[in-house]
Amino acid sequence: MELSKIDVYAKSIILQAGDRIRQSFSEKWTIETKADANDLVTNIDREIELFFIEKIRAFNSSHKIIGEEGMGEKIQSLDGVVWIIDPIDGTMNFVRQHRNFAISVGIYVDGIGKLGYIYDVMRDHLYHAIEGQGAYMNDQPLKTLEEISLDKAIIGLNAVWATPNKRIKHEPMIELVHKVRGTRSYGSAALEIVSVASGRMDAYLSMRLSPWDIAGGVMIANEVGAIASNLENQPINLLERDTFIIANPFIHKEIVENYIELK
Ligand code: IPD
Ligand code: CA
Ligand code: CA
Ligand code: CA
Repeated sequence: MELSKIDVYAKSIILQAGDRIRQSFSEKWTIETKADANDLVTNIDREIELFFIEKIRAFNSSHKIIGEEGMGEKIQSLDGVVWIIDPIDGTMNFVRQHRNFAISVGIYVDGIGKLGYIYDVMRDHLYHAIEGQGAYMNDQPLKTLEEISLDKAIIGLNAVWATPNKRIKHEPMIELVHKVRGTRSYGSAALEIVSVASGRMDAYLSMRLSPWDIAGGVMIANEVGAIASNLENQPINLLERDTFIIANPFIHKEIVENYIELK
């Protein structure tokens, strides 16, 4: 199986999906909630996932597909070729801001990341990586991440984790917020991960992400030297929801060891 053929095909269907999403702004969407009142899904999320499934099946029916909206397969292992797709990452931004959302696609072969794509639809920025061949934004290479110290870092963090909560001790998080140069929260895990890969941000962490939130981005960020793990410094698992951190390699360990205390 040639990765370059899959790469050309993946890029073309991602760009087509982006066109469709931009076109949908002239239509009336159906907006529903899922697990809670802030967990939104639209008919466009579902339509785009279905579009990917049909296109991937037409390309190679042996490829497996996991997607957020559940129209792919329920798979128990990463054996074979697996596409892990988030048709719109940042649905709340899509609905409320009409920007700051992305399409995320990761393609894994027997559990190893081979191809990764994050498409920032409204900026028309396509990030991609092929294993061992570097990462790119609109075909311009992203640089290997350079050394940084934590006091000069910008980190992506939802403010809620620096307030009393059930998942993580907030006092060390407050210390982290004071230690770093600044914090940001963009509302799309995929875009936060490529911000780290591009050196615009130096770390991003979350208490709960799903495989489709991270599969594409981690591939891209790994190529420039970023380190991804869960918040207990264990390797990421692409079959389960888990805590998550991606960081510049010079500050990953320091954040996990000195500032993270899960409850
Ligand atoms: C969400 C976004 C958000 C993150 C949530 C995700 P969705 O994805 O990535 O930034 O904080 O945990 O579920 O639902 O918009 O695809
Ligand atoms: Ca969602
Ligand atoms: Ca998502
Ligand atoms: Ca989504």
